[in-house]
Amino acid sequence: MSEKPLIADFISSSVNYRQNFGGGRKQDIAKAVGIKSRIRPNIIDATAGLGRDGFILASLGSHVTLIERSQIIHDLLADGMRRASNVGGRTAEIISRMKLIHADAIELLPTLSTNVIYLDPMHPPRRKSSLVKSKMRQLRAIVGEDPDQIELIKTALQSDCNRVALKWPSKSPLPNPLPKCSHQILGGTVRFDIFIKSNVKKISI
Ligand SMILES: C[S@@+](CC[C@H](N)C(=O)[O-])C[C@H]1O[C@@H](n2cnc3c(N)ncnc32)[C@H](O)[C@@H]1O
Repeated sequence: MSEKPLIADFISSSVNYRQNFGGGRKQDIAKAVGIKSRIRPNIIDATAGLGRDGFILASLGSHVTLIERSQIIHDLLADGMRRASNVGGRTAEIISRMKLIHADAIELLPTLSTNVIYLDPMHPPRRKSSLVKSKMRQLRAIVGEDPDQIELIKTALQSDCNRVALKWPSKSPLPNPLPKCSHQILGGTVRFDIFIKSNVKKISI
């Protein structure tokens, strides 16, 4: 069976379902970035990919700057955002909180300032390739393995922000020595390693 073409999808029924029944600010990704009842941090998603995580964060009320360095993935994401914006209503309102930049975050992050940096670099390949979702396989075929992910994490930790949230497979150790994280949020297949910086400033709505 041929694979579906890779697109950034913000308008299908499954995305709507996740928006309505995905757990809101109780879901792990929301806790990872520090979204609370009256707190909507400004977030840089430095590994935008197809914008799934960025869209969830924007749907919860945060303003999200998405950085993607692959020209192909950036263009797919820009196209998905444009189509979603044209739908109007709540979907367009969510997209209006998302700003997409084509750049290498390792170069751009040191020039930016935000509350939270969110990172979801390419995870180590799973041994059972049938378990890897088709979308992720197609993405990997385009962008490769992110061999500089440790440099990206270190750059984020040195950047002007209060918190870095790193999404990583639950059972995999980080590939290289990094500072110990402040705490972890453990999910079934993924976990979030949270690094809180000392000069905490919060944005309330
Ligand atoms: C696992 S995907 C992210 C998936 C995304 N969280 C989502 O929900 O769709 C990782 C993406 O980060 C991008 N990336 C990796 N390192 C980057 C960097 N230094 N700067 C910008 N983008 C980067 C890759 O090109 C890839 O598209």
